[in-house]
Amino acid sequence: MKPINKTVESFKESIFATISRLAHSKNAVNLGQGFPDFDGPEWIRELAKRSFDGQNQYAPSMGIKELRESISQYYNDFYNLNYDLNEQITVTNGATEAIFCTALALINPGDEVIVLEPFYDAYIAAIELAGGIPVPVTLYAPEFKFKIEELQNAFSSKTKMVFFNSPHNPTGKVFSSEELNSLCELIIKHDTYILSDEVYEFLTFDEAKHLPIASLKNMQERTITISSAGKTYGLTGWKIGWICSSSEISHAIRMVHQFNTFSVCTPLQYAVAKALKELKNYIPSFKKQYSDLRELLVPGLEKLGYRPISPTGTYFSLIPTPEGVNDIDYCKNLIEEKSVASIPLSPFYLKSKEGEGFVRLCFAKKKETLEKALKNLS
Ligand SMILES: Cc1ncc(COP(=O)(O)O)c(C=O)c1O
Repeated sequence: MKPINKTVESFKESIFATISRLAHSKNAVNLGQGFPDFDGPEWIRELAKRSFDGQNQYAPSMGIKELRESISQYYNDFYNLNYDLNEQITVTNGATEAIFCTALALINPGDEVIVLEPFYDAYIAAIELAGGIPVPVTLYAPEFKFKIEELQNAFSSKTKMVFFNSPHNPTGKVFSSEELNSLCELIIKHDTYILSDEVYEFLTFDEAKHLPIASLKNMQERTITISSAGKTYGLTGWKIGWICSSSEISHAIRMVHQFNTFSVCTPLQYAVAKALKELKNYIPSFKKQYSDLRELLVPGLEKLGYRPISPTGTYFSLIPTPEGVNDIDYCKNLIEEKSVASIPLSPFYLKSKEGEGFVRLCFAKKKETLEKALKNLS
């Protein structure tokens, strides 16, 4: 038999699948899986139910007009960013498809793509399937900052783009405006693009403020902004995402999207179009819900002596592994001895060993789930 694609051959089962299987076999509380164990708000699910009448055929490939209108409106209302709904916004099957379409539309074989590690694992797959070469730049604990010299040295004449994510999975970090500005300076200097994955844009706590890369000076033209309704509404199974970019890039992305999924679930697009109109009213309760869950898990872990990092964004908290124990072993120990599943960080690095020092816990869980996990961890 002829071999399968050689890039695919190098892919392994995701760490999420491995850990979930182990957690299931030991009946452990699963704080590894990075999504809520509760439903999104009832009012949005009601909107969805009503959307199923007469709206069940293919949507336009770029997404229904009502949803592109709502997306364009919220970027304007929240960030003062203008995107033309006819040319610059495309609805995708979640942020994941958006990431793949962007990679396939922009990367040529041999292009280098800078990725900050730890990264969201789909980035490396998307870059490699497009024939690109990931160039890792490490974020160093405990603040998960990049070293500017390392970032400068990562750029070369072959750099096509940077894959960036803030608020950041898995660290929970929200990048400061100084960090963003120094990154953008290099992007402009080297005339490259940036994919800015902002799926956790509304999940910031305390004083942390999300700054979209496209809103920084001279950046909108070279930024491909990606977001998704999955995180903002706690409805990850809906898989409604979007990409905003310049018309030229958007055209290339649409060329990929039309032959990939072609279009996205029609009735759910109508529901998200309506839900985005309520964003301003909805966000305070959304933040409070997750902030309360963070306040349950993080101080709870502290009391038990686990030294968690309290995140300023996302729904993840990292805990350091004990001296001399690596993340994979620690994760397995926690499942076997404490019946709590977490995610080890080392699979999200290409270069550094920093990941061996942490596991990630997700607090997008019911109060009872978190209380049970804390009880088990005591
Ligand atoms: C940083 C990041 N980007 C993208 C995604 C994928 O989003 P979606 O479910 O909309 O495809 C996730 C999901 O966990 C994520 O954490």
